[in-house]
Amino acid sequence: MADKLENIILVGFMGTGKSAIAREISRILNFPHVETDDIIEEREGISIDEIFQTKGEPYFRQLETALLEEFTQQGTNKSIISTGGGMPVQQENRALVKDLGYVVWLKTSEEETFKRVTTNKDRPLLKDGDLKKKIHDMLTVRKPIYREVSRFEIETAGLTVSEIACGIIDSASYYFSHFPKVSV
Ligand code: S3P
Repeated sequence: MADKLENIILVGFMGTGKSAIAREISRILNFPHVETDDIIEEREGISIDEIFQTKGEPYFRQLETALLEEFTQQGTNKSIISTGGGMPVQQENRALVKDLGYVVWLKTSEEETFKRVTTNKDRPLLKDGDLKKKIHDMLTVRKPIYREVSRFEIETAGLTVSEIACGIIDSASYYFSHFPKVSV
């Protein structure tokens, strides 16, 4: 039996507030916040958008997997990890993410997602074409994936960042205190 890693990992579609909520959880718990997109951008020295343009999406996806493997190997613990919206789409990433700790799916409706991402030009997958249809099509594929990978899901509409953060902390604390060990 090995100690389970006690990270909180936020997954969910673009525009669900993963970064802001992770920052708030990190502030309350005084645990470090790590954001996979930020680490990748810093290491590559260019933005996610530029990585997609110059090196392609498969390259970016490899970096995501390598980063999760690195977290596991390093035993990253007691951290709040916010992920890019497509992180759990690759099968291998789902097992890696689950092994890192308590995975939370942040949800928003298609309409709300549209409102939140409509003015944002930094997201390569939402740049061209019919935005509403893209969101619909991607969410149709991704919803079952987010559901599969997460232990807890929270509908964010109508709640403040602080309320969502506190709800996640409560449920994660309950989980970690009741299921402290896992066999590996
Ligand atoms: C992506 C989401 C983005 C970023 C990249 C791909 C996706 O992160 O990783 O543009 O596939 O959903 P955010 O969810 O933080 O926007």
